[in-house]
Amino acid sequence: MTTPGPLLETRIGDLVLKNPVMTASGTFAYGAEFAPYVDLNDLGAVVVKGISLEPRQGNPPPRTAETPCGMVNAIGLENVGLERFLADKLPYLRRFDVPVVVNVLGRQVDDYVRLAGALSEAGGVSAIELNVSCPNVKSGGQTFGVDPEAVNALVAAVRPAASIPLWVKLTPLVTDIVIIGRAAQEAGADAVCVGNTFPAMAIDVHRRKPKLGNVVGGLSGPAIRPIMVRLCWLLARSLDIPVIGIGGVMCADDALEYLLAGARAVQVGTANFVDPRTTVSIVEGLRKYLAEQGVGRVDEIVGQLRLE
Ligand SMILES: Cc1cc2nc3c(=O)[nH]c(=O)nc-3n(C[C@H](O)[C@H](O)[C@H](O)COP(=O)(O)O)c2cc1C
Repeated sequence: MTTPGPLLETRIGDLVLKNPVMTASGTFAYGAEFAPYVDLNDLGAVVVKGISLEPRQGNPPPRTAETPCGMVNAIGLENVGLERFLADKLPYLRRFDVPVVVNVLGRQVDDYVRLAGALSEAGGVSAIELNVSCPNVKSGGQTFGVDPEAVNALVAAVRPAASIPLWVKLTPLVTDIVIIGRAAQEAGADAVCVGNTFPAMAIDVHRRKPKLGNVVGGLSGPAIRPIMVRLCWLLARSLDIPVIGIGGVMCADDALEYLLAGARAVQVGTANFVDPRTTVSIVEGLRKYLAEQGVGRVDEIVGQLRLE
């Protein structure tokens, strides 16, 4: 008989994940594109590209550029739209024994409500992740995510339409992330994810041109990790709902920083562009760490940062 290894299972509310390592939206396409490299069954969850009601073409190229310790991107939320996602992309993912989390984006509250309703009814979607970093057309283009009242109103409106877990992916670009996290929690969110990219810009000095076709984009990768770990720690200390850490997770130690800071799981984004197998390497690394530390279950290290 073999000795059972440390248990990597974790829970985000009612949703049980085999392990705490998920993909981050927009960096793992619709899953199928990475299946030649990664057995999707080995992941905690697959979080797919942001889906909108209608298809979106996205921004002009170049859409990504490497920066020190990270990258900037301005994909422009290109996606196939809800209808084609349900017809062409979701059936493939349903073949795997892995929770599918769908990141959604809208320009007004009603868009999110309709997306949440359709995805709840579709079957085979385990959770909805609201991307609140989109411009809210009704409030003059300011993102939902910077205003606690807008976050509260959005989540409260979407909640009744979503019969599956509802996660809110926060923007880090706020003065007090805890106020925004509380607004999501009070309106009925099942978890918060922290967070999305930082607005940024990179310039090719020889051509005197922006490196991105869209001029500005979002910064991700290891450059943002220490900022996100802090935000995650602040949220985990203050909220009752689970926190999911995102930003610059490249290896198991990076994931462990988030877990020790209080996250129940992490998402891996930029690292997928460096090595498409990063997620599964992290799962293996976590298993090794727990065995070395003599810890039986991954949950036992969540929030176990020693401050004295
Ligand atoms: C190319 C690219 C596309 C992205 N697309 C989305 C998206 O559609 N929706 C979303 O909420 N976040 C999107 N993100 C943000 C990531 O999901 C993640 O929050 C961010 O990159 C930080 O994690 P990382 O440092 O591990 O990349 C995207 C990031 C990148 C690099």
